[in-house]
Amino acid sequence: MDERIPEHVAIIMDGNGRWAKKRLLPRSAGHRAGMNRMVALSEHIFDRGAKWCTLYALSTENFNRPEEELEGLYSLFREYFRKNTVALKKKGIVLRVVGNLGLLPEDVREIIRKGEEETQGGLRGTLVLAIGYGSRQEIVAAVNRAVREGKEVNEESFSALLSTEGMPDPDLLIRTGKEQRLSNFLLWQSAYTELYFTEKLFPDFSDKDFDKALEEYALRERRFGKVGK
Ligand code: FPP
Repeated sequence: MDERIPEHVAIIMDGNGRWAKKRLLPRSAGHRAGMNRMVALSEHIFDRGAKWCTLYALSTENFNRPEEELEGLYSLFREYFRKNTVALKKKGIVLRVVGNLGLLPEDVREIIRKGEEETQGGLRGTLVLAIGYGSRQEIVAAVNRAVREGKEVNEESFSALLSTEGMPDPDLLIRTGKEQRLSNFLLWQSAYTELYFTEKLFPDFSDKDFDKALEEYALRERRFGKVGK
């Protein structure tokens, strides 16, 4: 594998609401634009050679948003999974969802489960959607499990208790929408991840913008805490 291409790309898709506001549209229009961009961009990311792509679609904290906005997001999820499961399967992309799905309405959970099941076995890559995901909650749950099972853990066995079990750590994490923070996303997993922040609002973050991030990634020297070359 080409070292300059990240095996695992993670994205915090921020700025949908502001994108809509700028256009005097409701926030739901921003989420729809974000979803359309997400579908096209994830395709592009696999085309560039990444094997894993993790997208932060909804954090645990996002569940505190007004009911109306949440309902709109659930409708988008329903539509997305229905429309895209077959397409993902055809392209050999496995769908995996991480997070506390218990926060979602039952029918959305069921659609997600079906999507995961139907795309099993794809060889091209894995698209991971983080929905109802929060890194601290994930870590606490893993600690509690280890305690319950009376297990002493090391880094490797602890990683296997997380919802990202079996996934490589992200090589490149991109956050759109100007903010420069991780917001409870993959805290354990991104210990050595290269971070890339852009002011572009997610619906405006084009394939070309992604390629720019790749160019910068290729120039970074990853030392993983060791002395450089
Ligand atoms: C952050 O923008 C974005 C979200 C909370 C939702 C992201 C969801 C999508 C792109 C749709 C995903 C669809 C599926 C099926 C996974 P924001 O609302 O926080 O924007 P703001 O910071 O400008 O207010």
